[in-house]
Amino acid sequence: MRETSQDTIALPLSGQAAFVSGGGKGIGRAICLNLAALGASVALTGARDMAAAEATAADIRAGGGQALALPMELADRQSVDAAMERAVVALGRMDIVVNNAGASRRGRLLDLSSEDWAFVFAVQTLGFFHLAVAGARQMIRQGGGGVIIAIAGASALRCYPGNGAYGPSKAAVLSSVQQMAVEWAPHDIRVNAVLPGPIRPAEVDWQAKEPALAEEVGRIPLKRAGTPLEVAQAVAYLASARYVTGQNLVVDGGSTTTWYING
Ligand SMILES: NC(=O)c1ccc[n+]([C@@H]2O[C@H](COP(=O)([O-])OP(=O)(O)OC[C@H]3O[C@@H](n4cnc5c(N)ncnc54)[C@H](OP(=O)(O)O)[C@@H]3O)[C@@H](O)[C@H]2O)c1
Repeated sequence: MRETSQDTIALPLSGQAAFVSGGGKGIGRAICLNLAALGASVALTGARDMAAAEATAADIRAGGGQALALPMELADRQSVDAAMERAVVALGRMDIVVNNAGASRRGRLLDLSSEDWAFVFAVQTLGFFHLAVAGARQMIRQGGGGVIIAIAGASALRCYPGNGAYGPSKAAVLSSVQQMAVEWAPHDIRVNAVLPGPIRPAEVDWQAKEPALAEEVGRIPLKRAGTPLEVAQAVAYLASARYVTGQNLVVDGGSTTTWYING
């Protein structure tokens, strides 16, 4: 934080506009609330649950921040472009774009339909391309500078049976991040990925509903699931880390280094 000439404390992201896909629940909601708490104005999107997206925006406004909720389907380029355009009209500019929304269809590869494979890639990989390009075009129009952050997943680095196209689609996001980072660096646009491991809300008894996952997280180095806020904190770091681009920030309690450890 820096002090202004009026001796008031300026928040680190004051004056910056952010766009977050899938802000109504889970990790996306935490990212929106945290960016707003750091001073950013926030456009967030919903798809099938607009009420949840509206609730996040209302919570930000109730706390004194600026926010709006927009409908957006990541797999549909026109929908993404329209949402970005509405966000820029409402917020005046775009500085931070976070592609958080994701979707999966589980299944072992021998049973997976090509429709299921294509669906997961359409939302997670093609959708990231749509949103990142829409954000970068706006950043370039306003003179350059800005950051694009993909919420990928530790599954991009290690696979487990039955997870369908999820890991492959997230791995393609990591390569896309590097491609974008190289192509857009001349515009001072940084592009990075956050790779969460198992993330569950700390205040909910998810262990009762997911005993197998609870047993697994007991064997990773930090011996617990991460929280949505802990992913949001990684996003906030990347939003401000001005010499970091093309990188993967793994937020997984150490699980990818020692997955399925004992003791
Ligand atoms: N939770 C974890 O353990 C974990 C671990 C690693 C990575 N991740 C990644 O982190 C991100 C958030 O995960 P989460 O668990 O918080 O997800 P979540 O609770 O399932 O929420 C998914 C969000 O994505 C939106 N969405 C889904 N399909 C969409 C589409 N086709 N177009 C636009 N928006 C769409 C949803 O909006 P509506 O509800 O309005 O439809 C919702 O806001 C995802 O990319 C996920 O892969 C999560």
